[in-house]
Amino acid sequence: MKAIVLKSQGDVDQLAVAELPIPKPQKDEVLIKVHAIGINPTDVYARKNIGLDYIFNNEDPKILGWDVSGEVVYRGENVTTYNLGDAVFGLLNFPTHTTPGHAKGYAEYVIARTKDITLKPDNITHEEAAAVPMAALTTWQPLNKVRIKPGDRVFVTAAGGGVGHFAVQIARHFGAYVIALASGSKRDLVTGLGAHEFIDYQTTDFLDVLAPVDYVIEGLRDDHVSKTMRLVKSGGKLLSLWTNVNGNTWAQQAKQRGIYAFYNAVESSGADMAALADLLRKGIVKPHVSKVFRLEEIPLAHKEIENNHTTGKIVISLI
Ligand SMILES: NC(=O)c1ccc[n+]([C@@H]2O[C@H](COP(=O)([O-])OP(=O)(O)OC[C@H]3O[C@@H](n4cnc5c(N)ncnc54)[C@H](OP(=O)(O)O)[C@@H]3O)[C@@H](O)[C@H]2O)c1
Repeated sequence: MKAIVLKSQGDVDQLAVAELPIPKPQKDEVLIKVHAIGINPTDVYARKNIGLDYIFNNEDPKILGWDVSGEVVYRGENVTTYNLGDAVFGLLNFPTHTTPGHAKGYAEYVIARTKDITLKPDNITHEEAAAVPMAALTTWQPLNKVRIKPGDRVFVTAAGGGVGHFAVQIARHFGAYVIALASGSKRDLVTGLGAHEFIDYQTTDFLDVLAPVDYVIEGLRDDHVSKTMRLVKSGGKLLSLWTNVNGNTWAQQAKQRGIYAFYNAVESSGADMAALADLLRKGIVKPHVSKVFRLEEIPLAHKEIENNHTTGKIVISLI
């Protein structure tokens, strides 16, 4: 099979096409013929950052990619929940801060643990399905731990990107009044997905125009966290997606302001994917794919996402 291997951590020139044997699943795993792969900023961090080398579990070759949609073509002997031909998608074997997670998704075939996947809804394509797992789980999981209340004013930053465009829809689903922050080019997308108000950060400072909010979903980094923290009402919440604000000076700062700030790391979960699949099936959540590349073009897809101005999601199509 064809795969994209990472020869060594570094620039995109370290990503190379290779011919490898099709992997063999264990008893509780399935083999997926990959139809589409989602690209995430995390792929870029893992490609570049030698501090993240542990995620590959000392295996060779290193292959990036965790978001996959495809068809079950082989099942291990203990697998009863999936049949050959089933269309499935998920965030496969994602690492935690301490445990490896070498999913090897940039390939024509990939192994999946059944606990990481769910059935793909028929009303979305494999490209759309591959756009969902990491980006949608990133807010679905924490918002199920620290709830939005119906009617809460929720401020979503980086609202036109992968995580943000799902965050807008998920917050709406929980009954929020959603205010979205992005560049003007994303206004139509984000309001079309349900944001009640839109602020263009290139022309307007949100602190000048926005009344305090109940909840912030913050996709940007440190300085921006300081800024959005000032916007949260006493008793409100701030979910930080990049800056870890748990149990440190950020947490103290939040406490002094009377708010609860927290960071949550996304996890592989077929159960959470099934909940999202239900929302996709009902049309409550819709993935937006702005660019599609071929497997061999993954270096271009990495360069594109590194620009940090992605609209919705970038995916790789193998069909
Ligand atoms: N906690 C976790 O487990 C987890 C998991 C996945 C991702 N993340 C984090 O979540 C964040 C978002 O990821 P993503 O996949 O959505 O990235 P993405 O698809 O690359 O989107 C990034 C977005 O940021 C916007 N942006 C850049 N500068 C901005 C600014 N000053 N104000 C408002 N928006 C701005 C860009 O749009 P414009 O054109 O509008 O600038 C772009 O749409 C990243 O920090 C990522 O590391 C965390």
